Amino acid sequence: MDSIVVEESGPLNGKIPIAGAKNACLTLMPATLLSDEPVTLTNAPRLSDIGTMSLLLQSLGVEVETLNEGLVLALSSHALKTTRADYDIVRKMRASNLVLGPLLARAGEAIVSLPGGCAIGARPMDLHISALRALGAEIELKDGYLHAMTPNKGRLVGGTHKLKFASVGATENFIMAACLAKGRSQLKNAAMEPEIVDLVKCLKSMGANISGEGTKTITINGVEKLQGATHSVVMDRIELGTYMLAPVIAGGEVELVGGQMELLEAFCNKLMEAGVEISETANGLTVKRKLDKINAVDVTTAVYPGFPTDLQAQMMALMCTASGVSTLEETIFENRFMHAPELIRMGAQIDVQGGIARVKGVQKLKGAQVMATDLRASVSLILAGLAAQGKTRVSRVYHLDRGYEKLVEKLENVGAKIERVR
Ligand code: EPZ
Repeated sequence: MDSIVVEESGPLNGKIPIAGAKNACLTLMPATLLSDEPVTLTNAPRLSDIGTMSLLLQSLGVEVETLNEGLVLALSSHALKTTRADYDIVRKMRASNLVLGPLLARAGEAIVSLPGGCAIGARPMDLHISALRALGAEIELKDGYLHAMTPNKGRLVGGTHKLKFASVGATENFIMAACLAKGRSQLKNAAMEPEIVDLVKCLKSMGANISGEGTKTITINGVEKLQGATHSVVMDRIELGTYMLAPVIAGGEVELVGGQMELLEAFCNKLMEAGVEISETANGLTVKRKLDKINAVDVTTAVYPGFPTDLQAQMMALMCTASGVSTLEETIFENRFMHAPELIRMGAQIDVQGGIARVKGVQKLKGAQVMATDLRASVSLILAGLAAQGKTRVSRVYHLDRGYEKLVEKLENVGAKIERVR
């Protein structure tokens, strides 16, 4: 298994290009099941999760062609061969559950393995199930698979549903299923993430009739059929936030090419409160810290437009080097502090009590052998390694490959001392 060795680096200078959003692409790809015409996705990120979704869709009979070194995905769902999404693929990636809604709407049936828990929490499917039942779906759990059927294997029926929690995935499954339902549907307490807005943009270009995306109430008027389309994937705000922290933790000034501040307002506001200067340029954003030391700030993760849970681990790495004490509260997942013990191995002072971590900044972190446990925790260790004395070796970096394309190259290009070793 590969590791990444990162040494104390900085100041960093140069440009980092931001790729298309993993979490937009992972819902745009299953959305193509809704049409029997070809859909082309451009600005697609080159990530292992995208490969996993491609395999899953191909197992259903979707033709998936990757062009231009994976930047372009050409998908065609004109002839599906099965409605069963097998455990051996679904268990690798929770986002596989996003075939449930579109498959059900397109084929009248979907048999999808439960994704199983993962490192950051149990992550049940109850919100997806109740949302789809509001559209007339009959869903039961048998042998670890969700068996979903439309009424008499015909069309779903438009309905209104209020989510108990603004789940991103449940919102996406509801929207995709409702696009082909008979009549009008409305989802209340919907998630408002930019990746959902991007999904709706693509669905509208396929002929869907949707309004309210990006707000808490989304209305969908079902249509008989969706056409093919070409859609450019929105930039990855989580990759953007992650790399914005590199010059902040290691010093210097970096331009994030393609970065859009308006998709990360809560995060940018926190960085500015901590003493970071962010300026918008013609090509994106430049970031640098105002002083040599960052101020400690308190963070509470929340659904969009709040502080993203997917940037909590990275922010914790920064707070380990800040002056003062910061409190990070994780409200979205029940176990998303696994990076804390690894950061403590690097000399960080972190006290975790349930969903709250208190971080007392230290003068200098020390390089150490650490282990990645999940996608965002792994990159927080790389960020910490940039500021730590000596060398930090991060093992199990396959987690990183799920969400960060060319990470070593992108950081090396701005002066980081970093290499991938077998
Ligand atoms: C999406 O996951 C993202 N993944 C996650 O990013 C992100 O952390 C999460 O949204 C929150 O923003 C993709 O978009 C592919 P949720 P999703 O449904 O849809 C609970 C990353 O690092 N819940 O909003 O699975 C759930 O257990 C990944 O890129 C239920 O209880 O998130 C969690 O505690 C990690 N029942 C909370 O809601 C359900 O039926 C948020 O889940 C569904 C979810």
